[in-house]
Amino acid sequence: MLAYRHAFHAGNPADVLKHVVLLRCLQLLLAKPKALSFVDTHAGAGSYELAERMSQRLTEYMDGVGRLWQRDDVRAALQDEAPRGAALPPPAVLDYLRAVLAFNADGTLRRAPGSPALAAHLLRASDPMQLFELHPADCRALQALLGSRRHTTVHPGDGFAGLRAVLPPPSRRALVLIDPPYELDADYSRVLSGLREALERFATGVYLVWYPHLQSLASRGLGRRLRALAPAGWLEAQLWTAAPRADGFGLMGSSMFVLNPPFGLDEALRAAGPWLAEALGRDGAGRFVLDAHLP
Ligand SMILES: C[S@@+](CC[C@H](N)C(=O)[O-])C[C@H]1O[C@@H](n2cnc3c(N)ncnc32)[C@H](O)[C@@H]1O
Repeated sequence: MLAYRHAFHAGNPADVLKHVVLLRCLQLLLAKPKALSFVDTHAGAGSYELAERMSQRLTEYMDGVGRLWQRDDVRAALQDEAPRGAALPPPAVLDYLRAVLAFNADGTLRRAPGSPALAAHLLRASDPMQLFELHPADCRALQALLGSRRHTTVHPGDGFAGLRAVLPPPSRRALVLIDPPYELDADYSRVLSGLREALERFATGVYLVWYPHLQSLASRGLGRRLRALAPAGWLEAQLWTAAPRADGFGLMGSSMFVLNPPFGLDEALRAAGPWLAEALGRDGAGRFVLDAHLP
């Protein structure tokens, strides 16, 4: 049942979009001094060694963060060596790459930090984290990585079921990432029901839902159904990187759907998205779409 292992996919184009949006949301929310809780319903192992067998087998990161890492403009910007007046990657992308660099101190890309590691990197020591992971091995890795962080709980179990129990957080400020594998069709409906319940308990939270763009009906309908749920405002960033395959399989792109997006996210992604589409699109398939309904 638990066939999905994120190590195969860590650092791929979908992860890049997810983590660029996640980090910018965190940065915007951390501008206020009041405590911010981070909840990751599908946290994964926390961080991934790219040289390990599982990552190497598919080397998806070479189409994602690896591809960005090899660009001259990225290398120059990360080393603070960009010539005066040279075009730099957009700020939200650069901030993401700087965060990745913090896990790869000598500049060689060996490790892809996952959402829990990236969040821990940005959060203040007093900001709580609630991390859920169902796969026992990934949960053990996550516990080893972040279990000793203060105000952090690693929950070995179902993140959809656990979400309602950690809402609302004491500070009444939270960023919730919902990032299931969608290997089971039930994940699509559980995202919607989980979100509906979460909003009943805590309507003002910032919720980030990642979902894949596949040719299946379930995938094609999720964006519309998420929009119908959003009470106050939403934003959806779509990054398309591959053309549809004749066999009907394969990932064409992905979306980050943000409920109650923080002020400033819209503008940051309008700058970052087209650059990412250009940098990560394969065979001319790169495309970025940003839809928003903001109060
Ligand atoms: C896409 S990966 C998470 C990646 C991570 N959020 C990141 O950005 O680095 C999805 C993870 O959810 C786990 N998982 C699957 N079903 C779950 C469930 N119902 N509750 C919690 N975790 C689950 C999988 O084992 C996998 O590690």
